[in-house]
Order: sequence, then structure tokens, then C-alpha cells
Amino acid sequence: MPPSTAAIQFDPSHRLWVLHTPQTSYALRLDERDVPRHVYWGPALALAQVIDVPRRPLPADSSFESPASEAGELAGDGFGPQGLLVGFSDGTSAVEWRFVDHEVTAGDLAIRLRDRHYPLEATLHYRVHDDSDVIVRWTTLRHTDASGDPLLLTRTDSATWTPPLRPRYRLSHVTGAWTSEFQLERVALPIGETVLTSRRGVSSHQAHPWLMIDDGQAGEEHGEVWSTALAWSGSWRISIDHSPSGRLTWTGGFGHEGLTWRLRPGETWRTPPFAGLFSTGGFGGTSRAWHDHVARHVLPDPGTLRPIVYNSWEATGWAVNEANQKRLAAMASRIGAELFVMDDGWFGARDGDAAGLGDWRVKTDNFPSGLDPLIAEVHRLGMRFGLWVEPEMVNPDSDLYRAHPDWVLHMPNRARTTLRNQLVLNFARPDVAGWAHKWLDTLVRDHHIDYLKWDMNRAFTEAGWPDAGPDASRLWIEHVRGVYCILDRLRDDHPDLRIQACAGGGGRSDLGMLSRTDEVWISDNTDAADRIAIQHGYSQLYPARTMAAWVTDSPNFLTGRRLPLRFRFHVAMAGVLGIGGNLLEWTEEELGEATDLIGRYKQIRPIVQHGRQYRLGTHAGRTAVQYSTPDQLAVLAWQLPLRAGQPTVPIRLRNLDPTGRYRDADTGSIHHGAVLMAHGIDPDLPTDYTSTLIRLTRIG
Ligand code: DGJ
Repeated sequence: MPPSTAAIQFDPSHRLWVLHTPQTSYALRLDERDVPRHVYWGPALALAQVIDVPRRPLPADSSFESPASEAGELAGDGFGPQGLLVGFSDGTSAVEWRFVDHEVTAGDLAIRLRDRHYPLEATLHYRVHDDSDVIVRWTTLRHTDASGDPLLLTRTDSATWTPPLRPRYRLSHVTGAWTSEFQLERVALPIGETVLTSRRGVSSHQAHPWLMIDDGQAGEEHGEVWSTALAWSGSWRISIDHSPSGRLTWTGGFGHEGLTWRLRPGETWRTPPFAGLFSTGGFGGTSRAWHDHVARHVLPDPGTLRPIVYNSWEATGWAVNEANQKRLAAMASRIGAELFVMDDGWFGARDGDAAGLGDWRVKTDNFPSGLDPLIAEVHRLGMRFGLWVEPEMVNPDSDLYRAHPDWVLHMPNRARTTLRNQLVLNFARPDVAGWAHKWLDTLVRDHHIDYLKWDMNRAFTEAGWPDAGPDASRLWIEHVRGVYCILDRLRDDHPDLRIQACAGGGGRSDLGMLSRTDEVWISDNTDAADRIAIQHGYSQLYPARTMAAWVTDSPNFLTGRRLPLRFRFHVAMAGVLGIGGNLLEWTEEELGEATDLIGRYKQIRPIVQHGRQYRLGTHAGRTAVQYSTPDQLAVLAWQLPLRAGQPTVPIRLRNLDPTGRYRDADTGSIHHGAVLMAHGIDPDLPTDYTSTLIRLTRIG
């Protein structure tokens, strides 16, 4: 019987390690040259069974193939993409490992290797949990000669992943752009190399550091899926190699191609976690396993229900002042919001995006007595208070830039290209990161700020660091580490502070940010019709409790589309409901409807935020999502534009007790679980952009 909880076994005679998670096993071994080779990743197998797994067949034996046919655990030899590229001072770049030792502590395995000749040590790390099938991997490199020459690093991946051989493979991933993040792509994987990457300094709107692989047969609720996700918020690269021999591997880590830096004598270099999951539950089962893992092992505060945020951005833009924010706060509290966030525009000379960024002094014209009167009013109204900040950025037209023009990413003799009229402060510099931490810490402490929206609104260009000489490329890594360090310190020093990650919407939403924030602003596109696809893509990996979603005005500021208030609410209720419209212009009828819908959301919030999510599919423009706890269900269904005469089919619910009976909280009618799953529900969604929320409680 395979073990049912996490365990790590070592078989010295085969030099084989087997990692067990509750439902899966993963195995690697050392070959005769001490190179760690991948053996197995799939359904649970006992050690004796893993020993029986045949070695991968050799590709055609010719002098044009690598001598080893098995994939490496850190791609560093052979002819595929390299996961480790290191240069020694005499020009040698190949690595030859000698196994040193291994250590197993609780769920952690560390395999230590040392180069046979040069002063380089690599440790491959694996972590398993007894409540998750996700295997977390990373690598550390150490320069072992404290008085030697530096080593040149050009690629230091976290891990290389290999699924079993299948006749064909299909790749699922998300792509997009600003306002259209998380668009799900599912494509046959060609023979050759496919690269997913961001060179933007953020994990990016355009590509996203996770992928799923199946053999083309998996569906939403069935089939084998291998998936991996990199916990990194800067530039990254995942190189997928589908070789003509049929073997598939992918190697990934931080940084993009063309970056080099030196590993200093005695220095240790740690890569970010690159986590992998095998599931037999199709894409839906894969998503739920990731959701559980993120809740159990990634989020800093998974158990707290996320409050209903009111955010002033779409209502007042940069024109925030004490009076208009107080008026909005009064309306927000009246309809049931729990936390009021003042967005951009409260500081410096910030009347638009052209000036003031970096000058984190309250704009006294608009807030004559500072922030405190507004904060006191928000508290008096029974809400908590949050504030927008964009610490990594500066407008050239700012006192900060005039005083410290050298603080930004730049290169001598090159332009400093502005995007959104701003430049990037170099948080790789300890003095710059220290300055940011200080003003943020003071701001939070002096005003008892409950929540920060940490924004980041441009990609890196001319990303240089003149003082760093040949190590300038380090900024791509160290900047992100600087951001992480500030977030971690703020959380440590202000345990009640909650943080939303934002980068012009979803430009930096990844496991790295999620391990130090509470939720993500996943898109600046608040058009509920567009949002359904964005939320669908986000849900592939990330749980609803992290997905901030606002109801805003109609027509939508971005698309001009008019949508019913109820539809806008029902879409936002599929995540962490927030409000972002100009409530001062909503009619009494709209405010009443909003109050009612917010009340309903509060009832279903524990189910949406802490339940399990089932994507129920799309047919004839009708799409639905189910959230469930053992006894409660909330189903949200939305009708996108219909073609006349198109037939609809019932929406079949998932994972109910077929012998159970369920009462509809609104109609009182009682349904059999078996019927809800076998036949489904047929909500009345007669026209475009109608929607419904169905709440069911198990009664027996
Ligand atoms: C981009 C964010 O995504 C928006 O929500 C808003 O905060 C603006 N920045 C403010 O400049």
C-alpha cells in the first residue's frame, strides 16, 4: 500500500529517493556519474514499485545525442534548455557533480552536490506536505572558496520538471495584456522548444509563471494533469523542451535570458520556489488542489474572511479630497462596505499621472488637517481604512527625483524612458529600499492604517545599476527581493495590516506576492462581461479568497458597456466582493439593490472564500461557478450574449451527496442531490446579461 501521508524514502542500493504526498509519488536517483535523474512523477507508488519503473528508453543511439537519455533534475547537460549556466574563471562552463550527502528533515529533502574540480556546491531542495500534493522545489548554489575568483552565473533555475512519456502533450497557460489578464490558452505542444517568459521586471500581464500539461484528453473534472507554478514576482523564464524523442521537460526560474552576475566567494544563492502538482482530477481538480495549497501553505492569513472594500479610484480618480472621500465613505458604509480605501492622488503634487509620485506627503490643499480627520470619519462609520501607495516609482517631476536622480534604474549614456510618466526606483539598493520602508512604516504607524493597496505601474526599461558594475543584472533579482523584504517587515511590525497586491491590475499576481499579501487586484478591467474570462483564468491556480472584484458604474469607464447592477454584482460576488463605483451618483433604487446584494454576499462569503470551487462550464453563453462547503452551496450563473434560437442545457452541479436533499434558500424548494448532479438546474436567464445566485443548504 502506498503511504497516505507525506514521506521521503531513500533506497541506498538504487541511490533512489521517493517523495510521497497524499495521492502522488515523485522519484529521482543518482546516475553512475552522480547526476540526479528524474525517475517518476504520478499516482502514488510504493518504493518497491518505483524501483520497478523502467528507465526511459534511449533515443536513437547516435553521436548526435546526449549520452544520458534520462532527464536531469536540474537541466544542466544534454542539448535542451539549460537550467544551470555557470562560468568558471578559466573559461570552463560544464559542471561535473560529485554527490556529497543528503538530509531529510520532516517533509524536506536536501541533496548536496559539489563540482568535482571547481568551488561550486549545489543543493536540490524538495518539500512535501501531508495535506497537499504540491511538491515545492528550489535550488541553492554556494561558492565554496572564500578566497577564490567569483563564478559567473547566467542561469540559475529553481527546478526542472518531467512528466511521464505520453503520445502527445497539451499546454495550458494564461496570456493577456493590461485590462485583459489571465486569458486561458490550451494548445497542443509542438515538438521543439516553447518559452514562457517575462522580461518586464514583473511576473506580467502578458505571460504568467504557471503551466499545466496533459495528454490532450483531460477535461474539467477528469484526466491526468501535471502543473507547476513559480513563486516569483519579477522577470522569469520557463523553457519547455518537447524533444523529437518524445520526452517533455521544462526548466524554470527567475530572471530572463541575457542576464549575468557573479557569485561572490563564499556567497550562497537561493532560487525561488517552483512548485509542482500531479492530479488525476482534471483541470478543476488541479485548480482546487492549488487553491487548497495556497490557503494552507502560501497565504499569510488564509483564515480571515476578506472584508468588503470600497475603493475610490473609479469615482474620484486623482481628484481626492477630504470632503469627497467623506461623502463616498458615508455612502459606502450605508450600503454595507467594511473597509474604505482612498486610491491615488492624496500626496505631493499628484493631480494626474505626470507629477508628485515619490513625494509621500499628504496634499495639504485637499487634506488641510492631514489624513486623520478622514480616517476618524471612516472609523466612526464603522469601517477600516486603507490607502493606495506605489512605493517603487517616481515621477521625474517630483522633489524625490530632483534630489536623487541616481536612485532610478538607469544606464549611463542612455535614455531614461518614462512609461506612465514614471521611472522605477532601484530597490536593489539598500538605501533606496530603506527609504521606502521608513516612510511606509511611519505612514502605517502614525495613522493606524489597516490596509495598503501596493501598486506598481510600469515595466522596466534601461534597467541598469551603474554602481554595481558587472553585477548590474542582479537588480532584476534584488529589486524583487527588496519589495519582498519591505512587505515582510511591514507585516511583521504591523500584524493587523492587510495588503492588496496590484500592478496596473494583475501585472504582478503570483505565488511570490501571495505569500506576503492577502488579495490581488487582478485587473483594471471592471466590465463584468469581460471579467468572467479574466476570473476564469485567475481561478485556474489561485483561490477566490484572493481575487478582489469591484462593482463599478455603468456604462463601464473602459468599455462603455452598460450592464445591469445585479449582473455586475453577481460577477464580483464570485471572488472578494468590493465596490468601486461613484456611489454619489447611484439612484436610491440602485443603492437599495446594492445593499441587498451586499447582504447576500455576506451570507455566502464563507462559502465563496473558504469553500471549494467548481467551474460548471459554459454553454450557449451561459456560464456558472459553484462554491461549496459540506452543507452549503452557492451557484452563480451568468448569461453572456445569446444567439436567437440557441438551445440551452441544464447546469449540472458537482460533488453533492447523491442521497442528500438540498433546500433552495430563496424559493424554499427542495432538490435531491442526485438530480442536481445528474440532471442539473435550469435557471431562468432569459436575456443577455441576466444572472442569478442560487443558495442551497443540505437538509438531510
Ligand atoms: C492602477 C491600479 O490598477 C488602479 O486600480 C489604480 O489604483 C491606479 N493604478 C491609480 O493610479
